Amino acid sequence: MKLMKELSMFIEKDGQKFIKEGKALIQTKRIEKKDGKQIEEEVFYNPAQIINRDLTVLAIDTFSENRQPLTILDALSASGLRSVRFAQEIQNVKEIYANDLSIASLALIDENVKLNNIQNVKIYNMDANKLMKEDIKFDVIDLDPYGTVCPFLDSAIHSCNDSLLCITCTDSRVLCGPDTQKCFAQYGTARTKMNCFAENGLRTLLYTVSQTAGRLGKAIRPLISFYGEFYLRIFVQVIKDKVETHKMFSQIGNIFLCGSCQSFHVYPYGQKEDKGYKINKKPIPSKCEVCGSLFKINGPVWIDQINDIEFIKKMLINLETKHTHFQTFDKIMGKLTGIVNQSEVSCYPYSYNMTYQASNLKCSNISKKEIFAGFQSLGFKIAQCYLQVDLYKTNAPNQAIYDIIKTWKKMKYGENYLKNIEENTPAYTILNSETQFIPDFTFKPVFSSAKMFYPNQEGFGPKSKAIQRKVIELEEEQTSKKQKID
Ligand SMILES: C[S@@+](CC[C@H](N)C(=O)[O-])C[C@H]1O[C@@H](n2cnc3c(N)ncnc32)[C@H](O)[C@@H]1O
Ligand SMILES: [Zn+2]
Repeated sequence: MKLMKELSMFIEKDGQKFIKEGKALIQTKRIEKKDGKQIEEEVFYNPAQIINRDLTVLAIDTFSENRQPLTILDALSASGLRSVRFAQEIQNVKEIYANDLSIASLALIDENVKLNNIQNVKIYNMDANKLMKEDIKFDVIDLDPYGTVCPFLDSAIHSCNDSLLCITCTDSRVLCGPDTQKCFAQYGTARTKMNCFAENGLRTLLYTVSQTAGRLGKAIRPLISFYGEFYLRIFVQVIKDKVETHKMFSQIGNIFLCGSCQSFHVYPYGQKEDKGYKINKKPIPSKCEVCGSLFKINGPVWIDQINDIEFIKKMLINLETKHTHFQTFDKIMGKLTGIVNQSEVSCYPYSYNMTYQASNLKCSNISKKEIFAGFQSLGFKIAQCYLQVDLYKTNAPNQAIYDIIKTWKKMKYGENYLKNIEENTPAYTILNSETQFIPDFTFKPVFSSAKMFYPNQEGFGPKSKAIQRKVIELEEEQTSKKQKID
């Protein structure tokens, strides 16, 4: 039963392809025979993105509360699937613009709108940038491109005014992975390799979006940020507000990251003073206070909240009351609960990989229970990060993190705690330094056991572009035409 709920239903009949997702029945491939030719049209569909679309329905539905009925733009629509789902699964909708540049999409969106008996979808076959430059105010814009969103940002933010902007980027190699040159060229951030690459990718993307907004006299408020392994998805409210635009000075900053022990410092560019925001005058850290190694720079990035907890609590209520039909219901419930559970530490950007950090001191197998006991016995807050397994968010300083690991190692390894540790290495420095924070591992910790991570299904990952239109000369018809001529 659970598996059935996870899988979208694929239907194939005479070469035509259909899928069932949410409350929609969608044709993704059509075949038409006309004038001795067979025309095959196929559009992009990726089942691995069902969670992206379910989450989008839920976010837009939540955003629509206490507002006038929404005008939504599904700017890169492919089959029209999102548009049809928005029309069927969100109540407070006035009209939806389903747009795609490809001719194959035009025909399929039209079929799908009719197939689902939808009345309020307008179909467009334009370059999304041109459409967004028209004088239409969209309450919601969904951007779901192949790869990066960058080419669409300017025009999308231009047509947003107190609107919800939903962005997918499938270029996770650029935002989270090894392609740091392209990251700098496209997103303007010098990224360094780090354990919490998903959060860093989201913060890089949010920085770029915020700067585009700033240039147009607008600002952003992130409502929810999500990482789907091969893609990133953010939902931001775009507002025209001078005070919020000025606040950006304190919402952007650099991360100074220790290349040896992964301790880090967050450094905002600006700080609030009596008369608005001014340049941060605090000293810039030069080297790691824990192990003495040099810092690497990572930035600029968005360093303010990436989720709005009140909005997410409303999403949770709507999920349980209106969207129990979602194929990814359990996964979304787990992620949203995870975000709420980390609300006490969500204002602290970035996270620590405790397994990695412990391995730096050549020790392994600190259990989750011991990690929580260590931090909570010292009065620090800690929560498991919802973006990647093994990561923890905390308000504890770098020194306390290593003191906790060090104390644990001394307790387990006794006299041998320095065995196999070479002198003059960062690990040696840390293990030999004075312990300021002494945790109590017998402390009874409190932590949530909400399931936030699920294994990926077979075929999970990005999908290549669809073959959009194929015209085949039909042999039968050709032969009969030939015979007539003879
Ligand atoms: C990843 S697919 C969209 C998938 C769809 N949103 C879904 O959830 O199934 C990207 C679509 O963008 C369209 N596209 C690419 N560049 C475009 C442009 N400049 N303007 C409009 N559509 C464009 C492509 O034809 C393709 O159908
Ligand atoms: Zn260090």
